[in-house]
Amino acid sequence: MPTNGNVNRLQGQVAIVTGSSSGIGKAVAQAMAAEGASVVVNHSGRSAEAAEQVVASIKAAGGNAIVIPADVSNEDEVKKIFAETIKSYGTVDILVNNAGLQKDAAFVDMTLEQWKTVLDINLTGQFLCAREAAREFLRRGIVPAKSKAAGKIICMSSVHEVIPWAGHCNYAASKGGVMLLMKSMAQELAPHKIRVNSIGPGAIKTPINRSAWETPEAERKLLTLIPYGRVGEPSDIGLAAVWLASDESDYVTGTTLFVDGGMTLYPGFATGG
Ligand code: BGC
Repeated sequence: MPTNGNVNRLQGQVAIVTGSSSGIGKAVAQAMAAEGASVVVNHSGRSAEAAEQVVASIKAAGGNAIVIPADVSNEDEVKKIFAETIKSYGTVDILVNNAGLQKDAAFVDMTLEQWKTVLDINLTGQFLCAREAAREFLRRGIVPAKSKAAGKIICMSSVHEVIPWAGHCNYAASKGGVMLLMKSMAQELAPHKIRVNSIGPGAIKTPINRSAWETPEAERKLLTLIPYGRVGEPSDIGLAAVWLASDESDYVTGTTLFVDGGMTLYPGFATGG
């Protein structure tokens, strides 16, 4: 768990982190709990044990967390996450729209099901959760003792909101959609003191891309795309998410913070062009 000299930057706040039984979501849940937030660990329904382990790790470190299973692409289940969170913790201050998946296929072979599943979870899921969060933020308004903002939404995007990705058209389309969903929400909600931003992770060592870093040979190939010379760790994203949720970033809204070791810097042009 990242402990970068925690100063309780999220003390007294409630954070829902979707898809937080593993990978980036887990690291974000742990990092926010370490900063004093009460955290809702959400999973799709198939990772109950892993989600309980995340909660146990947070509690062992002195934090506060509960598990709420729900499929983020299902409107009723999303409403249930928020209703149960409010029942347990009173309100919601931070939403991390993290749940996401890949169903990779060559474009000409991609099935409608592969397309729809990825768009449903990665894009529609973010819409449904953000809408419920914004409704609660508007209802409650600012609580100065907790935060200068009425609420914060962090969308987990990807470098692939700007980098095209052959063999992953559904995924890249979903993240491109997240970019303008995030910016449009940010524009609409800023007058209500709700901040909306994205994190654009590059290659982070999680189950979603295990084959890209698991063997030394795969890792060497991956590193040609990363000027900073290392594959990212989930805690790199956890620390960025804490900052974006805290008042330290109070003047930041409508932006994507790329946390990618320079993957978006067109490394192929470092010597060419
Ligand atoms: C994808 C990973 C990939 C990374 C960099 C992420 O959004 O989920 O599979 O390694 O982008 O290409």
